[in-house]
Amino acid sequence: MFKRTRLGRRDVTDRKIRINQPVIDETEIEEVSEVLRTGMLTTWHGSGNKVSEFEKMFASYIGVEYAIAVNSGTAALHTALAACGIGHGDEVIVPAMTFVATANVVLIQGAKPVFVDVDPVTLCMDPEKFQNAITDNTKAVIPVHVYGCPAEMDAIMDIAEDKGIVVIEDAAQAHGALYKGRKAGSIGHMGCFSFFASKNITTGEGGIITTNDAEYARKCRLFRTHGQEEAHMAVMPGLNYRMTEFAAAIGLVQLSKLDRLNAIRARNAEILGSYLKGIPNVVTPTFPSYVKPSYYVYTIRVKGGSKKSRDALQKYLMENGIEATVYWPNPVHLHPLYMGLYGYQRGLLPVSEEASDEVLSLPVHPKVSTDELHYIAEKIGEFFVSDF
Ligand SMILES: Cc1ncc(COP(=O)(O)O)c(C=O)c1O
Repeated sequence: MFKRTRLGRRDVTDRKIRINQPVIDETEIEEVSEVLRTGMLTTWHGSGNKVSEFEKMFASYIGVEYAIAVNSGTAALHTALAACGIGHGDEVIVPAMTFVATANVVLIQGAKPVFVDVDPVTLCMDPEKFQNAITDNTKAVIPVHVYGCPAEMDAIMDIAEDKGIVVIEDAAQAHGALYKGRKAGSIGHMGCFSFFASKNITTGEGGIITTNDAEYARKCRLFRTHGQEEAHMAVMPGLNYRMTEFAAAIGLVQLSKLDRLNAIRARNAEILGSYLKGIPNVVTPTFPSYVKPSYYVYTIRVKGGSKKSRDALQKYLMENGIEATVYWPNPVHLHPLYMGLYGYQRGLLPVSEEASDEVLSLPVHPKVSTDELHYIAEKIGEFFVSDF
């Protein structure tokens, strides 16, 4: 059913095919070395030369006025919530199908994350479920662009603006993704990105907030450095969420490569999708026509039943050197933390719960070769036709 790999089986399996891998070359190494040579590794306000340059370049790439660099995607989300004054007594609506950071930052600010279900195709927040969850206490909503597919932003913005709710896009997986021609992270009141090592571009650890709102930008800058406008003159609470100069130096080079790297991801996704066609138990991802995903990962749904379950396939692929990964095995409302705090139970958000049982993410990052894509599809096909 599948083309044989041009590489021998041993050549392919000898090296693990990782779910994601940074693309770092000599330019990043040179740029970091240059920063280390200058001795200016960071500044107390977090706006050193490299950080400022990176912020300008990122804002321009996303198509917004301001970008504020911080030291993780979690810090970006936390800073955005603080900038719009989310605190005790407030509710923030978040999809259950996300990384736990999206909800934890709400809790840390003293507010309540209210989980809603997702669209069965994109696995992004269902706008109708968002609308139904709004109460007098709802102050913000955090749509997540899952696996790099932008959420249904027009509908979300219409509902939110009607009710005066702040929209913070969680674009941690969506660098360069497009929604109706607009970049993810440019549509809500603020957008938050992660530069963790697995992301489409990386600074090792890192994050950034994008916005067109001057006051949110000012508050974000304050929050990332202990609320200080001048050294030792705090005007609001804050933390040390500053990005280092050498992280920003890596970010500048990475950003210059982003469109090229995303194009390779899209091509790999197309190739893998074509190889997976016809395997009965595998549902390949589809996207609305007006969306251009960033393909953080390539996520299939496994409809195998108990013996040929998603977990069994994942194990089989792992044994064969393919780091297939489940994002996320538990929707966030079913984490013990949130079940304990708010009494959430299985059955409440069925689309997210079913998805969590079926999703399996496969690598399409720029370092996966076409032979390896063949090999991944071959192993998946083999799993479903074999007797074990
Ligand atoms: C959807 C989502 N939100 C937030 C984060 C948090 O980003 P970071 O790991 O950089 O703190 C991640 C990172 O994995 C993510 O995937």
